[in-house]
Amino acid sequence: MSVERTFSIIKPDAVAAGRSGAILAMIEEAGFRILALRMTKLTATQARAFYAVHQARPFYEGLVKFMTEGSIVVMALEREGAIAKLREVMGATNPANAAEGTIRKRYATDIERNAIHGSDAAETAETELRFFFTTAELL
Ligand code: RTP
Ligand code: MG
Repeated sequence: MSVERTFSIIKPDAVAAGRSGAILAMIEEAGFRILALRMTKLTATQARAFYAVHQARPFYEGLVKFMTEGSIVVMALEREGAIAKLREVMGATNPANAAEGTIRKRYATDIERNAIHGSDAAETAETELRFFFTTAELL
C-alpha cells in the first residue's frame, strides 16, 4: 500500500449537531494527516455538480437539499491506503448496517443523513480534491 490522498466532507447534519470535532478526532486517531481543511456552504449548483454521478437516482434531489441545508467541513486527508481506510472508518452508507465504532454508526441518523462523505476511488478522490482545493493548498 502506498501513501495516498483522499477527500472528505463532514456533512450538514453532523456539523449542525456539533460533531465536527469528534469526527476529526476519529479521523486523526485513525492515522490520517489533515492536509487542508475549510468550513463552507454548498450552493445547489455546487451540490448538483459534486454528486452528478447520482443524478439519475431517486434520492438525488433529496441529497442536494440535504447537502445545502447548512455548513459543511471539507478536507484533504493523507495516509497509507487513505481511500479504503477512510471508507472503513466511515462505515456503511446506511448506519443500520455500519460496524460498531465507525463514524456513521455513532453519528449518522439514516441512509441519507449519514454524517460524512469519503471518496470511493483514486480517480474520484483527485477530482473531488480539485473541486474544493487548489494545488497550493494541497502541498
Ligand atoms: P458518500 O458518497 O457521501 O461518501 O456516501 P456513499 O459513497 O457511502 O454512498 P453513495 O451511494 O455514494 O450515496 C451518496 C449519498 O447519497 C445519500 N443517499 N441517500 N435515500 C437514499 O436511499 C440514499 N442513498 C444514498 C447519502 O447521503 C449517501 O452518502
Ligand atoms: Mg459515494
